Amino acid sequence: MSSGTRAELYDFHGVQMTRPFTATWESVQKFQARPDDILIATYPKAGTTWVSCILDLLYFGQTDPERQTSIPIHDRVPFLEMAVSNPEKGINYIGVDLANELTTTPRLIKTHYPVQFVPKSFWEQNCKIVYVARNAKDNMVSYYHFDRMNTAQPAPGEWSDYFQRFLVGKMTWGSWYDHVNGWWQKKRNYSNLHYMFFEDLVENTDLEIDKLSRFLGLSVTPEIRQQITGQVQFDKMKKNDMTNYSTFGDVLDFKVSPFMRKGKVGDWKNHFTVAQNEKFDEDFQQKMMDPTLQFRTLI
Ligand code: A3P
Repeated sequence: MSSGTRAELYDFHGVQMTRPFTATWESVQKFQARPDDILIATYPKAGTTWVSCILDLLYFGQTDPERQTSIPIHDRVPFLEMAVSNPEKGINYIGVDLANELTTTPRLIKTHYPVQFVPKSFWEQNCKIVYVARNAKDNMVSYYHFDRMNTAQPAPGEWSDYFQRFLVGKMTWGSWYDHVNGWWQKKRNYSNLHYMFFEDLVENTDLEIDKLSRFLGLSVTPEIRQQITGQVQFDKMKKNDMTNYSTFGDVLDFKVSPFMRKGKVGDWKNHFTVAQNEKFDEDFQQKMMDPTLQFRTLI
């Protein structure tokens, strides 16, 4: 699949997708997960890279520190459904192949799939899954800037149009509302799922790493935890070429926006008009019917 031009959205099994993320659907569906694989699942821009780095440090930070300085995060943690090949833009990335080629254990694998798209072997093997959710307002803003700088994504257009599209789920990987709710409901019958929130990570990274390591069954000393907390601070990751996506090829236009942009809770206030905020809140209440799933838009 070429990424020479911006992709177009289309309906794929009831979810808005683009071809770079459906082209390898069959081989992705046949992917053979192993019991110790760990799947990192998110709606785009919810903190995937952050949590990927944390997991990578938890598993390999002590035993193979060199990998942190020599392998970009997108290769350490393959993006399962991504298939983009464009030699002109310096990119050839077939996520399912990269995942199959991993030689480290556990294999850390990333996906933005809604829960119903996850290959069945992950469930059959009872793999541990880490889901990260971010409040919709900041998620929307972050996705908007990402779609501006990612020249393979559908064109974002004006902010006001983007806002409308987000509300009706016309985004790659579909509706944020369906995504976060679908994964939340899955928790009821799948205990190996750890559901985390971006806002909690911002508020207290150390505590979230502690909860995450308990879920993973890892015993991590407070010293190592603090060391990891320091290594994954926003400024550190932004400066680090192995985590800031500067190695990803020309498909990302850093002149438009950095990948590591602000890393804040509440940036939506700089984008939403008063009217948009009112409309958003009203719509949100209608769509988010489960009172057990709560988001914070400010901390
Ligand atoms: P912003 O665009 O709001 O800055 P993903 O990895 O899922 O694509 O998510 C990217 C978002 O997570 C970006 O949000 C990015 O800045 C933020 N992010 C990544 N690492 C972070 C960190 N260490 N601390 C805070 N935010 C981080």
